[in-house]
Formats: sequence, C-alpha cells, structure tokens
Amino acid sequence: MVFRIAQISDTHLSEEKPFFIENFRRIGAALRADRPDLVLNSGDISLDGAAGEADLAAARALHDALDLPIRYLPGNHDLGDSQDAPAHGEGAIDAASRDRYLRHFDADFWSFDVPGWRVLGINAQLLGSDLGAADEQETVIAEAAATLDDRALALFLHKPLFDRDRDETAVTGRFVNPVPRRRLLALLAEAPPALVACGHVHQYRETRADGALHVWATSTAFVIPDARQPRYGLKEVGYVEHRLHADGSAESRLVQVPGAPTLNIADFPGAYGPL
Ligand SMILES: [Fe+2]
Ligand SMILES: [Fe+2]
Repeated sequence: MVFRIAQISDTHLSEEKPFFIENFRRIGAALRADRPDLVLNSGDISLDGAAGEADLAAARALHDALDLPIRYLPGNHDLGDSQDAPAHGEGAIDAASRDRYLRHFDADFWSFDVPGWRVLGINAQLLGSDLGAADEQETVIAEAAATLDDRALALFLHKPLFDRDRDETAVTGRFVNPVPRRRLLALLAEAPPALVACGHVHQYRETRADGALHVWATSTAFVIPDARQPRYGLKEVGYVEHRLHADGSAESRLVQVPGAPTLNIADFPGAYGPL
C-alpha cells in the first residue's frame, strides 16, 4: 500500500496577469495522466491573493478544472506574509486577508491519516502571528502530535523550517523565523515529523535534519535569478511526488514535465514589477 501525493507549489495564478497559467495547465495535464491519490498545493497558489479576491477565485477555478482530489495550504502571496518577516511586499497576514483566503480554499490547516502516516498541513504565515487562529492552529498541531500513535508524521507548510538546522538565528522572510520555529518544534517534540515538505523558495532540494527528510518543492511557474536569491538546490520548475508507504517509510522525487519551461521571474516585470 502506497499513498501518492503530488505536491505542486508556488503556482502564482492570476487571470489578469496570466503569465504562469500555461505551465500550470501543462503540469495539470501530467497530473491528470498520473492520477495521484492527492494533489497538494503548498502555497502561493495565487499571484496576488494578498491584495484582493480576483486572483484567489481564478486560481481556485483553475484547480477545480483539474478534477482531481486537491488540498491547499496558503502562502505569503495568498494572505500576506508572516507578521515577523522583515519586509512585507505583499502586506502581513491579518484577519481579513485570512478570511478572504478561507472563502476560496476552505481551510488553512488540516490533517488526515493514510495507512502508516498522518499528514498535517499548516499555515506557515499564521505561526507567530497575533491572530486568534494561531492558537487554534497550535491546538490542532498539539492534538495531531498527541494522538499520532505508531504512525509517521508528514508536515506540509509553505515555508521551509530552516536552511540547515533548527538553531539558526536569522530573521528572514524565507524560512520560519526562530521564535515560531522553536514553538512549533516544541509542540512536535514527542512526535517529530519524518517528512517535512514545503514550497516558497522556488527550488527543489532534499536534505536530512533531525531525523527528518526535508523536501523543498519547486514552483510550477518560475524561478528567481541568482542575483536575487542564493542557489540552495535546483532552480527548475516541476512538481514533487511523495510516496508514503504503510510501513512509515517514504521517498520523494522531483518530476519535470516536458513542455513546461523553467520561466525566470526577471522576464515578467508585469507580475510583481521589475526586479
Ligand atoms: Fe512563491
Ligand atoms: Fe512564498
């Protein structure tokens, strides 16, 4: 028994700024042919859902058209960045932006079980925020950890927990920041995840830390030039297949889709302005 999750990420969809729709459709066609048990979008679903409703609605419609089982997690471009991020090009998460996201994508944290595994998805931007929902999310995380039994835990969230290790002190917009990271890992101390999967960096990378496999899913849409972002892994578009086995083992791999070119955001100043 294997449960196959196709993780797509950073789709950055918009009808008004449709630059990344074609790649989404091509990768979507590959997913429809592959028939995974679940498609999971790990955030930045929309190009600019943080600013308004239209991109959220357009992104949801494009996903619905795939006619596959899909779960969603929000990214900074869907509801604003973490309140403790040093810069907020897209604004910080607040109750209104979160409600707007929920109107289109139903939930921003959730968990479900498959043989051998519990899959826990959380809202990375809610971590460390002053919203009441941050406490609700912590309750769900604690509950998921307390009742894990002999299942392995897979944690999905938009941002990587860290670059190389849990004790990093840098406060950035790229990783979960030190204070909320410590709090999250404390909640999971008795039930540490075996797999941590994220998006946000638009690069594919697999590393091991704290006994977990950390997998960064790349974007289906575009990569960011080296002048703006260090190279941590592979800057190519695609999606990630995770195979969760009933014995608690798992493997993950990058899937590149023929006909879905690796676009560079520097070539699309109409998306977020010139770099
Ligand atoms: Fe992104
Ligand atoms: Fe992001």
